[in-house]
Amino acid sequence: MSQGEEQSAHLVFGGVDVVELAERYGTPLYITDESIIRANFRKYKTAFKAVENDIYFAVKANGNLAILRILASEGAGADVFSGGELHLVKLAGIPLEKILFNGNSKSEEELRTAVESQVRVSVDSLDELETLSAVAGEMGKEAEIAIRVNPDVSPQVNPKIATGLRESKFGIPYYEILSTYEEAAKLPNIAIKGIHCHIGSQILDVSVYREATEKMMNLVEGLHGRGIELEFVDLGGGLGISYQKEKERAPTPKDLAGAILPVFEAKLNSLGITPKLILEPGRSLVGPASILVSKVNAVKLSPYRACGDMGGAHDAGARAEPVTGQSPTASRNFVAIDAGFNLLIRPVMYDAYHEVVVANKLNEPASELYTVVGPICESGDIIARDRMLPEVKRGDLVAILDVGAYGFSMGSQYNGRPRCAEVLVCDGSVDLIRSEESVEDLIRNQVIPERLKL
Ligand code: LLP
Repeated sequence: MSQGEEQSAHLVFGGVDVVELAERYGTPLYITDESIIRANFRKYKTAFKAVENDIYFAVKANGNLAILRILASEGAGADVFSGGELHLVKLAGIPLEKILFNGNSKSEEELRTAVESQVRVSVDSLDELETLSAVAGEMGKEAEIAIRVNPDVSPQVNPKIATGLRESKFGIPYYEILSTYEEAAKLPNIAIKGIHCHIGSQILDVSVYREATEKMMNLVEGLHGRGIELEFVDLGGGLGISYQKEKERAPTPKDLAGAILPVFEAKLNSLGITPKLILEPGRSLVGPASILVSKVNAVKLSPYRACGDMGGAHDAGARAEPVTGQSPTASRNFVAIDAGFNLLIRPVMYDAYHEVVVANKLNEPASELYTVVGPICESGDIIARDRMLPEVKRGDLVAILDVGAYGFSMGSQYNGRPRCAEVLVCDGSVDLIRSEESVEDLIRNQVIPERLKL
């Protein structure tokens, strides 16, 4: 650095210089700030303190054991969706009585494990209910259940993550719920404990929760009238976070409580019952708590400016001309980083927006338009489209923000890329919470038949 040149400011996360972390642990690197998770969990507990409640973390959002331990130490329960997730939360020390085994397609083995472990099961179909009764019978045990309601409400979210629509694969239709409970009450080895729904994810308008709560509490009333009393009402997760800080204001747990609690409490009072309220947040607890730091392998500046559509330069007959100055319609300048949809699939799968910053150039003005792409051999491997960033050079570090939910947990080894390391930061301290995989992990469990061996 020449004399007089100002040192570029570095991104600091959880009290730690991200550039130093990248030097120490390599890239790509998931970095999670413990204090954000704790603060987010406590916001839920404060917002819902008027009623008896439990917050079950949706483990699919992030299955890292250290992160589960943090949540367990705050008193979280867990929503698990597979035998594997059940295994994780047991290891993390989440109490069995605070675990709900969800899922629309559970194997008999998973049902057996749930009954064996004495965790409650959210039953997703009549078929599953009958299987569970038989499985519990064979084991000489009782299965404690809730029934997953499809409440037929339509949050304004990406259709891939709306789960309470009439046509969704999840749950039993609203109008069949009371008869299904009556059926359950007759079945041997089944103990009815609760009712469950989950209407979708990344919900930014909490009014749908009021609608869902009204429907769910009407069912609770219908069951009460039939002599079926519930110990809990689980209204699922789904509260959104603001991925685009300037455009979206995400509702807080307090806003959520404002939509749910008046309806919930009114029904409790009118019926004189006291079921516990359960919520299953995933994203809103861990989403903002992690960043993914990635190194720039190459910068490819476009010499062309296309007319209209940015990809138009490749179309037959499209006029393309060399860029003369900065233009918002400049054809793509690519910043190729070492993390792609193998480590963060959300932009590709849901057109999700994640903010990106150049972690080693925080104080430099955003002067160029770039599209940030990953290393995967697919044109769709785009992490962030058309972003104004400081001038980027090979070796710079790009941090992708708000990746703590459905980030690493949806990662893969596609294109022969071992998954990266994860570190936990907290008020300046740093701990490795997952080592990076090696090429050995790519071949783990693969078997070459004798006749094909070298
Ligand atoms: N409970 C149940 C039964 C769920 O299916 C889910 C999420 C949650 C709770 C937690 O929802 P959350 O609070 O995190 O929104 N991969 C997608 C999200 C899929 C959500 C699946 N179910 C994404 O990256 O946006």
